[in-house]
Amino acid sequence: MDRKEFLIVSGKIAAFTALSTCLFNCNQGSSNDITAPTNVDFTVDLSSQEGSALNSVGGYIYKNGIVIARVSQTQFSALSQACTHQGTTVNYQASATRFHCPNHGSNFDTNGNVINGPATRNLTKYNTSLSGNSLRVYS
Ligand code: FES
Repeated sequence: MDRKEFLIVSGKIAAFTALSTCLFNCNQGSSNDITAPTNVDFTVDLSSQEGSALNSVGGYIYKNGIVIARVSQTQFSALSQACTHQGTTVNYQASATRFHCPNHGSNFDTNGNVINGPATRNLTKYNTSLSGNSLRVYS
């Protein structure tokens, strides 16, 4: 193999390696890979530092893969926190009463339904029940 042949073969190997890496990584984080928490059942103590943000309408916290927001004086919304597009953590925007993904701009209503994409799948919604200062979040 002379120098020219060696360079051509080396170039082809490098191109194949780069293409293979791209094809593999492009599948990472697709919506099919994102799973919501299952068998959920935990409580948040609103009198503790962990839960204190939930004492105010518009406040929200994250726990166990779930974002929990106080959407009104009497209502909470608990949704899977990983955006169904590529898994970025969503936040709660009280001014618009919606959950927002800062990565590509998907928005979800307080039931987890897609308002706009690129996400096409809803967030998973969990039940909530407030008893005193104890907020139960469960499947
Ligand atoms: S990861 Fe949320 S919109 Fe893309």
